[in-house]
Amino acid sequence: MPFDESKAKPRHAPPSESDVAFYAAHTHRGLVEYETFLDFKRNDVINKKVLDLGSGPHGRFARELEVQYGEQVDVTSFDFIHSATRAGSERSQKSVAGLFSQLPFKDNSFDMITSLYGFPFYSPTLEISKKILRELIRITKPKGTIVLWPVLEAFLSMAKDIVQDKATVSWEDTSDTFGNFPRGRVTITKLPNVS
Ligand SMILES: C[S@@+](CC[C@H](N)C(=O)[O-])C[C@H]1O[C@@H](n2cnc3c(N)ncnc32)[C@H](O)[C@@H]1O
Repeated sequence: MPFDESKAKPRHAPPSESDVAFYAAHTHRGLVEYETFLDFKRNDVINKKVLDLGSGPHGRFARELEVQYGEQVDVTSFDFIHSATRAGSERSQKSVAGLFSQLPFKDNSFDMITSLYGFPFYSPTLEISKKILRELIRITKPKGTIVLWPVLEAFLSMAKDIVQDKATVSWEDTSDTFGNFPRGRVTITKLPNVS
């Protein structure tokens, strides 16, 4: 029987008011924190198209980049929680509501895709993770990167299997930086000749 994604609750259920309150309370990070977790440099974001997957209700990563770099950054905050939050000053400029597994973006759209405590952290099943990975590769530009944290090392072989000859995948143990949290960072780079 095919897997019914709509039954993969609660992470694929519409966000409730308490979800919004919970994520709003837990996503007040500063730019340095994002830089540390995601290990990106200024040149990775300036004049680049960035997608933040699982941005949290306020699109905090986008806002921090906008405060620091102004119009030199172009960040889209993607989260199903945006369907439950009202547009307003708290939101970053570009907020798109949706599920990780149904990304409404064209092929080769983004130079960098980030996800901090988003994907695969909240992916409910391995099958959905595979589907999301294929989609992420599709919407990443050639030579673009996807940076995910936190990720278990076991994710690496699955990701390599999925991206095959379309991208390189590496996993870095970050437990030294982040204490006893035994997880790492995955970086996926789409190859230049893949469209
Ligand atoms: C802990 S918050 C992380 C926020 C932000 N990245 C940060 O670290 O500050 C996780 C976010 O992922 C979103 N999320 C979880 N599963 C999702 C899915 N399947 N599709 C879209 N968004 C999802 C939640 O709505 C939530 O806002």
